[in-house]
Amino acid sequence: MTAQQPSAIAGHYRQGDLRRKIDEALDRLYPGQATLTTDDLHGVDEFHTGGHPATRELAAHLELSAGLRVLDVGSGLGGPARHLAQHAGADVTGVDLTEEYVDVARRLTDRVGLADRVRFQQGDVTALPFARASFDRAWMLHVGMNIEDKARLFTEISRVLTDTGRFIVYDVMLLGDPTLVSYPLPWASEPEHSFLAHPEEYRSLLRKAGFDIVAEHDHRTQAVQLLRAAGDAHRRNSTPHHPAGGDMPPAPINVAMGADASTKVAKALQNIEEGLLAPTEMVCRLR
Ligand SMILES: C[S@@+](CC[C@H](N)C(=O)[O-])C[C@H]1O[C@@H](n2cnc3c(N)ncnc32)[C@H](O)[C@@H]1O
Repeated sequence: MTAQQPSAIAGHYRQGDLRRKIDEALDRLYPGQATLTTDDLHGVDEFHTGGHPATRELAAHLELSAGLRVLDVGSGLGGPARHLAQHAGADVTGVDLTEEYVDVARRLTDRVGLADRVRFQQGDVTALPFARASFDRAWMLHVGMNIEDKARLFTEISRVLTDTGRFIVYDVMLLGDPTLVSYPLPWASEPEHSFLAHPEEYRSLLRKAGFDIVAEHDHRTQAVQLLRAAGDAHRRNSTPHHPAGGDMPPAPINVAMGADASTKVAKALQNIEEGLLAPTEMVCRLR
């Protein structure tokens, strides 16, 4: 990855006023409620095409027990990390390139009272700021599409895991001709910042980094359902006189995606339905 690409990618995600927008969305949903739970945040804090059902499913595949140390690679607003701490008692560290996301992730974690078990830090996942064997598990949800040097990414993840480490990658992978993929997409407004790869490339790079792939799951059906629902909710919310208008919860992933969220959702759905892209999970363990 060249020096300017990480800042261009963080620039894609940065909104400047995301903290305010999320606070407003939560105030609208839970007026006067100072204390929130992780369940209350589901509509706003998971930024991937499977929403909360996918987070739950993937978490089960991590085979966690209380106290295990988990690294969330590209943790975004922190919803998936908080889920692991809340429901499996894991001790979770998230690392993310986008400073604003790290800030919002910390604030939401404070609001749900999980700051003793979940922490976030700014960093580039191709140069992880951790010593070798620092974590028992790692997962990476919808981040590899922003990473050109996946060989280095997977080698870094392998380095920071213990010998019995387990790792899950859940990325939108390329099935067809990359020149046919339509943009803007939730992770990149232009093709220059999108580093889509075929499942075979993932498998090969994961193996080279020392991982065996123990299972694969195709998440297309789940993504189509969620993206259709997100598009519908966005249309309802932006129709001023619709009876459901202001009372609808924010559609999953819409708040984090910013102004052209509905276009990004529609394009992601189109590419998946056309068979060009597929959200895919690979469950790996170190050899
Ligand atoms: C689509 S979001 C997914 C966030 C989170 N994993 C989730 O599922 O809610 C992609 C995230 O990857 C982060 N990211 C992209 N490139 C990165 C890099 N080189 N190092 C760290 N984070 C990165 C972005 O800042 C963004 O938060």
